[in-house]
Amino acid sequence: MSEHLTITRPDDWHLHLRDGAMLVAVLPESARHFARALIMPNLVPPVTTGHDARTYRARILAALPRGSGFTPLMTLYLTEQTCPDDVSAAAAEGLITAVKLYPAGATTNSASGVRDFDRLRPVLERMAEIGLPLCVHGEVTDPEVDIFDREAMFIERVLDPLRRAVPGLRVVLEHVTTAEGIAYVRAGERNIAATLTTHHLVINRNHILAGGIRPHYYCLPVAKRETHRRALREAATSGDPRFFLGTDSAPHTDAAKLSACGCAGCFTAPNTLAILAHVFEEEGALSRLEGFAAQHGAAFYGLPQNRETITLEKGEPTPSGGTLETGEGPLTIFDPGFPLAWRVAGPSAKGCPP
Ligand code: DOR
Ligand code: ZN
Repeated sequence: MSEHLTITRPDDWHLHLRDGAMLVAVLPESARHFARALIMPNLVPPVTTGHDARTYRARILAALPRGSGFTPLMTLYLTEQTCPDDVSAAAAEGLITAVKLYPAGATTNSASGVRDFDRLRPVLERMAEIGLPLCVHGEVTDPEVDIFDREAMFIERVLDPLRRAVPGLRVVLEHVTTAEGIAYVRAGERNIAATLTTHHLVINRNHILAGGIRPHYYCLPVAKRETHRRALREAATSGDPRFFLGTDSAPHTDAAKLSACGCAGCFTAPNTLAILAHVFEEEGALSRLEGFAAQHGAAFYGLPQNRETITLEKGEPTPSGGTLETGEGPLTIFDPGFPLAWRVAGPSAKGCPP
């Protein structure tokens, strides 16, 4: 007899949907399983104003499969020129759910990001005042700092001073990859949380580099050594409400990944829930998957829990991964490196048997 697990329909608190043909190709993969997602603003050009967020949201809604109930929650891309009044107007209108901080040069399309963090003070103070969270890509960009140390250094040099300067600011340390990041979030009594990606629970840096280079495992922040992956798994499966799912599913075509200077990003939207069920079961924590994927994030953002459910079922283990065709070329789906026995069976009304 197969096993079933029915949970509240999950949310993805960190998602890259892109635009144009790529948006059309990848959006159904998230809309199929998730009720809501926090949409990253690192388009070219970035989503920096309320007007940009409104028009991007309209393009996402237009690209949704007919009948989908998926809700995109928009973010603004923070720059040194961001206007506090524009931010509070967009928040008051319900147009944005958070603001995203990219240190300039830290990752894909971050060139318009922040160089001088002191210049953010007025907008951060306004955000603290209105309770609007700041989502942070937590890596320093100093070329002197080793890439594997950039998250821990960011916490020390940038994040902690910033939080001390604006103590009321609600902060999400995005896609945390280190034991130091986990410890920092745990030590913060309030106003701090972290998202964890699916792929960082599965791969460490050996998976990227040992026995041949695997570009589809390259993302930013880059996966760290095994001790860190263990710390991430422990946090994700602990039931601590400060940790929740943000897949950072970040599609780049194979042409962009398989290059002498390949792009950072793992495309995990299609098989994230199957992989998470595997991980949580492996950790003896299947009963905590719902909190991580469907409850803690909504609670942090002060949004209602989803009323729909989703059912996962366990069957024969089968290899996962493969390719999604997009209007821009083939896109490789993240391969966790092990067969997956869990799969999404389909939504059902809460409380009803699958
Ligand atoms: O791996 C990543 N890809 N990390 C990011 O921070 C950005 C993302 C992207 O947009 O491709
Ligand atoms: Zn991201």
